[in-house]
Amino acid sequence: MSNQRVTFGSKLGVILATVGCAVGLGNIWRFPYMLGSNGGAAFLLVYLLCILLLGLPVMITEFFIGRHSHRNAAGAFKIMAPGTKWSIIGYNGVLAAFLILGFYSVVSGWTLEYIMQAFSGSLIGKSAADFKAEFTNFSSDALRPIIWTFVFIAMTHIIIVSGVKKGIERASKVMMPLLFLILIALCIRSVTLPNAGEGLTFLFKPDFSKITSSVVLSAMGQAFFSLSIGMGCLITYASYFKQDTNLQTTALQVTILDTLVAVLAGVMIFPAVFSFGIAPTAGPELVFITLPNVFEQLPMGWLWSAVFFILLALAALTSTISLHEVATAYVHEEYNVSRKRAAWFVSAGVLVFGVISSLSFGLLKEYTIGGMIFFDALDYLTAKIMLPLGGMLICIFVGTRIDRKILKAELTNEGTIPFLFFNTYAFFMKYIAPVAIGLIFLNESGLIHRIIELF
Ligand code: PFF
Repeated sequence: MSNQRVTFGSKLGVILATVGCAVGLGNIWRFPYMLGSNGGAAFLLVYLLCILLLGLPVMITEFFIGRHSHRNAAGAFKIMAPGTKWSIIGYNGVLAAFLILGFYSVVSGWTLEYIMQAFSGSLIGKSAADFKAEFTNFSSDALRPIIWTFVFIAMTHIIIVSGVKKGIERASKVMMPLLFLILIALCIRSVTLPNAGEGLTFLFKPDFSKITSSVVLSAMGQAFFSLSIGMGCLITYASYFKQDTNLQTTALQVTILDTLVAVLAGVMIFPAVFSFGIAPTAGPELVFITLPNVFEQLPMGWLWSAVFFILLALAALTSTISLHEVATAYVHEEYNVSRKRAAWFVSAGVLVFGVISSLSFGLLKEYTIGGMIFFDALDYLTAKIMLPLGGMLICIFVGTRIDRKILKAELTNEGTIPFLFFNTYAFFMKYIAPVAIGLIFLNESGLIHRIIELF
């Protein structure tokens, strides 16, 4: 199909950009608090299973769709199944990217505020109660977080309009290695604290009685969110891969690196949290209230805080560009407008969602959807519904509509590289992944119990 399309320049560029898309707030902010409030190591175990059994096959499948069609998330389905309704999967993805970016850029903006606070010395000499009060005051403020959200969207916008190679690839090549260095330095600091072992036990020693259906659904949602699957982000990135990119090893490398960063984030956070006798179950505020409080008690604490929030901002930025790219590529290609214009359109739309998400912590707190503030509703709708559903439909689409020979040819670069476990992969993609995702949904919604009662 179209060979004119822009591609990433090098193999390293492909890996770093795609890992950049996967590694983000999901690994360093969301994963630790989900693990902390969902049973610790038991959650980790279920999470790893979801990554391996569901995440990896869906990722390979998304790579197939992207590179085979060379189109954006929605256009890909129009090319591969013209005149059918399958492109709904793509629209679901583009919409999910938009919605995720709406609340994601708010949290990304918070990281900038904390970097400023760390450097200005205002995190020094505060008590745990002060950190909590400050965070609540800041996040519910009607202006400051919105300014930071705006700044973050502007940074994302600048990278996106610079293009795939000069913007996304170049930024990822600088930011990702830096992110790994900072993460490792923070891990070393954390595990050398007194009593660090308790945190590591919490992270790695599972208590099987903690595994419930809600833990399983949360772990699956987290796996999808963290790997950026189910919404077309990987379809869009894979559409920029070259014909000789090895889709299988790329998927494996991205999955391993993303999981490594999540586990290292746990290693960085839990020993520190336990060492200072703080509860690991704080929820979304874990890294914004608990961690500054932990750092504050270390020598040169402000510096550790600054370094940590820079890490968080870098991780967030490589992901916001990927989310932005999903929507920009869609508008650019499907409506035939220039890339620059498409990016403006997306940035403006995201800003509206960002402002509403941010205000839902303060001014708009009373307006809830299903008992959740707007910010939480977006998180719930995307991570627990749209991404898993998207993943399930992607598998059903490829499993039922695509000729196995075409699938195999693309995944083996026309037979030039082997795919040792192709049949296992195809079986998981076609049967296990959709059925597992469907069952977890039914279970969580209580439907399974009703069906069992009927018999
Ligand atoms: N995977 C990103 C993270 O873990 O923060 C979030 C994300 C980015 C989700 C891109 C979906 C996506 F398409």
